[in-house]
Order: sequence, then structure tokens, then C-alpha cells
Amino acid sequence: MKKKIEEKYLDLGERGKLSKHNKLNELTGKEWIKFSKSWFIHRPPRRKEDEVLHPAKFPETLVSEFIRFFTKEGEWVIDPFLGTGSTAVACLEINRNCIGVELLKKYYDVSKRRIDRVPAKLNSNPKAELHNIDALQLLTLPLERNSIHYCITSPPYWNQLERNSIRQKNRKEKNLDTKYSGLGNDLGNFESYNEFIEKVCLVFDQVFDLMKVNGYLTIIINNIYFQSKLYPLAFDLAIALTKRGTKSWTMKDEKIWLQDDKPLIALGVNNAWVGNRHHQYCLIFRKELTNERNSTCPPHQ
Ligand SMILES: C[S@@+](CC[C@H](N)C(=O)[O-])C[C@H]1O[C@@H](n2cnc3c(N)ncnc32)[C@H](O)[C@@H]1O
Repeated sequence: MKKKIEEKYLDLGERGKLSKHNKLNELTGKEWIKFSKSWFIHRPPRRKEDEVLHPAKFPETLVSEFIRFFTKEGEWVIDPFLGTGSTAVACLEINRNCIGVELLKKYYDVSKRRIDRVPAKLNSNPKAELHNIDALQLLTLPLERNSIHYCITSPPYWNQLERNSIRQKNRKEKNLDTKYSGLGNDLGNFESYNEFIEKVCLVFDQVFDLMKVNGYLTIIINNIYFQSKLYPLAFDLAIALTKRGTKSWTMKDEKIWLQDDKPLIALGVNNAWVGNRHHQYCLIFRKELTNERNSTCPPHQ
């Protein structure tokens, strides 16, 4: 019996037992189960000078937990909305290769500087290929179809940067960016909510083509509050991505990131309900081959 277990598992002590047949990652059973919980609290370390310029960065400590779950060392990860390069930095630190795309030169330059500062490794040489282009042009890059193992990203939250006035007032006072840019192809600048969702879907259609079958996609996003009503952006995007004809993603789950470190702001007190939204959704999808049969929408050309 003991011999049979030893044939199947490596005993990693405190970390638990690592199956030699683990198809997805290099985590022990104990670590796998821990990550499968549907919510988590993550208190990011303080942002460095370069990173604070960007109005909506996610912490690489958080990203690297997802990457560790959805990939093995040496595999390829893509982030089509790279921002300040958190995904690329996380990948290099844990020996994954990364393709990153960012529209704005100022954030692309920050990403470049940040990946150059990641210390070189002795026995591995992970790559980060960064591109300063519009994510809608992803397929113009010389990338092999069906070759990427995982995508983790966070798109603009529609017009939220411009409208979120209390937070933006504080950033303005500190001379920090309060929106990404004034460019027409910056997805944060679309007037129409539905048009914005369609454009974001067009990016994920292209990610779909690049992804290996059974590869996962994680989108960090939220529902948003605008002109006294909630727009269920996370939910609308999730539904839209499952109805893309032959490029439909299969939705697997959501994990909820509880932001327990954000200060409460007095919103609507003594007047009407306005919530302090202190969570984000991490939506999990997979590229599976079963969608063609289920879908009703025409494929993107
Ligand atoms: C929520 S932020 C991503 C932040 C990133 N996860 C980080 O940690 O820094 C969204 C990013 O999408 C970029 N963006 C907006 N429109 C784009 C487009 N059409 N193509 C590529 N990037 C775009 C913005 O400049 C912004 O940096």
C-alpha cells in the first residue's frame, strides 16, 4: 500500500503530497483544496513609485496565486490589458513565460522597466514578450494559435475611472492619472455600455484563438455604479463571453476577492442606499470544445 502511494505521489512535507499525474499545476492536494475556496482576502503590499501612477493596478502577489494554480513552470500566460506589467512580473518570478499587450506607451514603459528589475534565475530563463499595441489587434502578432496555457487580465471597467469622483479627486490632488488616456481605442473611453462590452468580447475572441483547448481564462472585474444605478458589468460580460458562437468560453466559476483593507467612505448616509463596494470578481472560464453545439450567436469574423 505504502509503495503504491509512493509511486503516485511525492511527499513535500508541510506542503502536502504532490500527485505525479497532476494535469494542471504543481500544487499538492492540500494547496489545491485551499485555492478552491470561492472567496479570499488579499491585502496587497504598498505600491512602488512607478506603479502608483496607474489608476487600477492588480497586485502581483494575487496574480501569481492564480498563475500557480492554472499553469506549470515553463508554460505561457497572456495578459491583453497589461497595464503596469503585474502579470509579466509575476510570471517571471515563478518561471512562467508571458505575452503582454498594453495600448498606452507610458504603462508599457513602466512594464518594461519592471520586468528588467526581476532578478535573473540560475536554472531557468522565463521570457516576457511585451507589445505596445491595441489588444483588438492581438492576432496581428506572430503568435501560434492554440499555444497559450492561461490568460489572466483585468480590462478597463468601462467609464469608471472618469466617473468615480471621490477617489479621483484624491488622485488629482497628488498629480496621478485619473483616466488611462483620451484615445479613441482606449476601451475606457467608450460612451456606450453595450459597445464597450462588445469590444472587450472581441479581444477575448482573439485570446480564444490563441488559447490551448482546456486552457483557462481569469478576468478580474466588477459590477459598477454609474448615474445612481448599478451596471452589472461583471455579470453582463460573463454572459456575453459564453455566447460567442465558435469562440464561446465555458464559464466555470467566480472567486470573490474581498478588499478588507479599503477605508469606508460616507456614501448616501441619511438619504439613500449607496454601497461601499469592497470586492472584485475573478471570473473563471475555460476553452472547451463543446460550445459550438450550444451557441446561438454568429462567430466573430
Ligand atoms: C485595469 S487596467 C490593467 C491593470 C493591470 N492589470 C496592472 O496590474 O497594471 C486596464 C488597462 O487596459 C489598457 N487598455 C485600454 N484599452 C486598451 C486597448 N484597446 N488595448 C490594450 N490595452 C488597453 C489601459 O491602458 C489599462 O492599462
